[in-house]
Amino acid sequence: MTSATDHVGETRVAIRTGPAATLRQDAWWIAPLVTVVVLGGFVLYGLWVTFINEDYYAEPYLSPFFSPCLADNCEHQTAEVVGDWWNLSPALLILPAPLGFRLTCYYYRKAYYRAFLWSPPACAVGDVRARYAGESRFPLILQNVHRVFFYLVLPFPFILLYDGIRAFDFADGFGMGVGTLVLLVNAVLLGAYTLSCHTCRHLCGGHVDSFSKSPRRYRAWQLVSFLNERHMQIAWVSLFGVALTDLYVRLVATDVIRDLRFF
Ligand code: FES
Repeated sequence: MTSATDHVGETRVAIRTGPAATLRQDAWWIAPLVTVVVLGGFVLYGLWVTFINEDYYAEPYLSPFFSPCLADNCEHQTAEVVGDWWNLSPALLILPAPLGFRLTCYYYRKAYYRAFLWSPPACAVGDVRARYAGESRFPLILQNVHRVFFYLVLPFPFILLYDGIRAFDFADGFGMGVGTLVLLVNAVLLGAYTLSCHTCRHLCGGHVDSFSKSPRRYRAWQLVSFLNERHMQIAWVSLFGVALTDLYVRLVATDVIRDLRFF
């Protein structure tokens, strides 16, 4: 920790500088702490469900961590894409796309740079590192791959919606349970998260010079902008949505709870 001096009125005061130094009096550390707990907890939970590789299907519900399930060793296969040579968790086949999308998300970047790297921990709080190069150099310049991940995850909300529709198809016929609702809500939340992405907003209208000549694009841009302004909130809610949907399916699959059937 170093210090500097500044003038406040006629008085010379010492100002701390360096990592986490700040004049802020509020509890600025709460937001990074919550991020560490929630985001860190989600990553650990995701790794755990991926590697234990069981109890992710409770007919007719499939956990979103394993959807689409593409390998022969799936508890419930969505499509036959990968043969029996694959003997690892089928979640590993699809995880890179949604995980990469979340990790390179502009909002999450801000959140985990602050929470995990303390770079900086909060506004007007000292950075841990002496120099700041932004994302202009390797390895952080690779974060620009976000727009590629956007294209890769575009099918996922539709696939999860398909899972939600299949969740009406019970062994004894057409029906609807709490799990059906849970899967459908999760698909909608992930769709909202994807649509609210900055890349999506740019694609819809960010590069259009004159909206008056592109009224459809303008309407799409308005809709996406509405979601984009709420991107942070949607990012968190959809994150909880994925984890809680998996948890629900898992608890039903292991007979810890019984799925309530509406009809
Ligand atoms: S900016 Fe967050 S998902 Fe694209």
